[in-house]
Amino acid sequence: MKTTITPVGALTADHVRDALLAATAAPSLHNSQPWRFHCTPSAIELHADRSRALEVADPEHRELMLACGAALLNLRLAIRASGTLPDVRLFPDPAQPDLLATVRPAAQRPATPAERELAAAILRRRTNRKPFHPDPVPAALQAALRHAAEAERGWLAVLDPPQRLVLCGLARQAHQAQLDDPAFVAEWRRWTGRSGEDSEGVPARSSGPIPEPQDEYVLRDFSGGSARPRVPGKDFEPDPMICVLGSFQDSKHAQLQAGTAMQRVLLTATANGLAASFLSQVVEVPATRRELRHLIGGGLWPQIVLRIGYGSPVPATPRRPLEEVVTGELAPHRSG
Ligand SMILES: Cc1cc2nc3c(=O)[nH]c(=O)nc-3n(C[C@H](O)[C@H](O)[C@H](O)COP(=O)(O)O)c2cc1C
Repeated sequence: MKTTITPVGALTADHVRDALLAATAAPSLHNSQPWRFHCTPSAIELHADRSRALEVADPEHRELMLACGAALLNLRLAIRASGTLPDVRLFPDPAQPDLLATVRPAAQRPATPAERELAAAILRRRTNRKPFHPDPVPAALQAALRHAAEAERGWLAVLDPPQRLVLCGLARQAHQAQLDDPAFVAEWRRWTGRSGEDSEGVPARSSGPIPEPQDEYVLRDFSGGSARPRVPGKDFEPDPMICVLGSFQDSKHAQLQAGTAMQRVLLTATANGLAASFLSQVVEVPATRRELRHLIGGGLWPQIVLRIGYGSPVPATPRRPLEEVVTGELAPHRSG
């Protein structure tokens, strides 16, 4: 069974398909893919799919909004790469709060080299939970990552060593609070350590090494218990770039925008040969999120914590097929 996707405005059917594949390549908490797309003859709509929210880890659906923001940036960039300007409206209909954005193909204009470079990074980006090489991220690249966040109205606070030490303590505290909650652990088990066949969740092959007591930052075991301990003595990078993506408000609108900022940071990292992983415990537990807000100056709402560095290649995670996430001008037909 194949799916035929029809044109949307000036976008050909192939461009629409590429844009939807790009959107669904976005990262999401536990690879939950909490989005839905509806195509009309003139627009692609992005909807939140709250049935896929992680109700224990993310009861307010904040991380769901981040994932949808990341999907929105990918959609915009893929449309730009096809030589079309996307006209984006956020929350266009107050009667439909889960309609997060409509993206209408507008005027034709060739993509810039920078836009093409970011669009090309969409399918190469991966979450990399393994130890990174020891080389620190150069200052010029750190600046490029900060500018990427600012371009989407976010703010990237790069932690200095004393702040990293505080973050480590907060991460441990948050991690323990979550492990003490049976509902969290049950939800965690449902979504991680998956076989390679599933189209959702985190496959065991994408886990990092089993967490060890001396590890400062990577505390979650995604392997479902199958990961092997690493070579004794081989530790995580000594001078990691740990940064907090913050927003100036904490509304749904601000969280969606923070998701686009997070994704521009991740794509800029990928385009520059850098890898990234997430440390969400600290922002998921309200008490440690408050401490983290204080740590980065008090004026920003922490949305996501990222670890960035030079990593070795890791495999891609699966995605649900477009047929499951796209409605509208789709005509299924049998090939042959
Ligand atoms: C809001 C958000 C929070 C995340 N939190 C974590 C986390 O705490 N630890 C982690 O290892 N991965 C985390 N991830 C990464 C997802 O597990 C990952 O995006 C998903 O499995 C898909 O894999 P990919 O990023 O390689 O495409 C998070 C992703 C998002 C968008």
